[in-house]
Amino acid sequence: MLSPANVAIAGATGAVGIEMLLTLEKRNFPVKNLKLLASSRSVGKKFKFHDTEVSVEELTPESFKGVDIALFSAGASVSREYRKACTDAGAVMIDNSSAFRMEDGVPLVVPEVNAEDAFKHNGVIANPNCTTAIMCVAVWPLHRAKKLKRMVASTYQAASGGGQKAMNELIQQTRDVLDGKPAQVNVMAQQIAFNLFPHIDVFLDNDYTKEEMKMVNETRKIMHMPELKISCTCVRVPVLRAHSESLNLEFEEDITPAEAREILAKAPGVQLRDDPANKIYPMPMEATTMYDVLVGRIRQDVSRTDKKGLDIFISGDQLLKGAALNAVQIAEVLVGKN
Ligand code: A2P
Repeated sequence: MLSPANVAIAGATGAVGIEMLLTLEKRNFPVKNLKLLASSRSVGKKFKFHDTEVSVEELTPESFKGVDIALFSAGASVSREYRKACTDAGAVMIDNSSAFRMEDGVPLVVPEVNAEDAFKHNGVIANPNCTTAIMCVAVWPLHRAKKLKRMVASTYQAASGGGQKAMNELIQQTRDVLDGKPAQVNVMAQQIAFNLFPHIDVFLDNDYTKEEMKMVNETRKIMHMPELKISCTCVRVPVLRAHSESLNLEFEEDITPAEAREILAKAPGVQLRDDPANKIYPMPMEATTMYDVLVGRIRQDVSRTDKKGLDIFISGDQLLKGAALNAVQIAEVLVGKN
């Protein structure tokens, strides 16, 4: 693809869309022309990009004329509705929604893991589920060294996963509860202020949630490991925008915490935070606004008699590595940047 590219952001006024804009600017993505697209409600809103001001336009089927790369984060139904208009216009759609992730012929890409898959697209490249993308960055280098066999994940997911409205709801409910007023539940499944709940996305026939099965199925696709054994419990916690995950990992080969630290210290997109004696471990507050995934609390699994099990804890910014950054990194792969 030619660089600089004509870029559009569909859903530019949302929590992820705003981070996409900031990430394009911060990483100096080679942009020739930039279009910011949202619903008619947002027309005329202005955003700064480098030293220009860009006005938000209404997303319509005509929006993609002359666009090379369209970053979508306006929800799955909007992605489905505009896919044809976007690809017919010759733009590559990098879609943050779950609409096409498991579709054959649509690459699902975490650039640290499977950047080369991005080139096998037929017009659409999918950006993975946020929890999955963050986990893959930390687990892939360990898998490459010691062959992952099974993973059990428990997640601690921030409000940002539900978009700007969910973040606002966490803040508003917290204020209301502190003021002695009842918390209003409008966006999330339950009260999130001073609470947590194991319910993200809808429940499926196997009693897992859709979010939990995204972790299972998307990881298998990204890592090209269709048989990988994964179980997952996804929990929403009263954190604003970074997800954390407790991961129990079983490998084919022996692995010690020291070996894992050595591997992770060199891994792209990872920063070690593993010095518990000095109270250093991953936390969502530190991961917030960071590109890298924090990894720590690395322990030999004490429930096993061999050395094939590890427990680790990770935190990563849901809006960045879990969404906007990963999408921009895919665009960078397409234009040959980095
Ligand atoms: P708008 O702000 O005009 O409603 P979030 O996930 O943070 O809630 O953001 C969703 C994003 O998707 C926003 O930019 C929102 O625009 C945009 N969006 C939602 N529905 C539509 C639609 N039908 N057409 C275009 N943009 C949409």
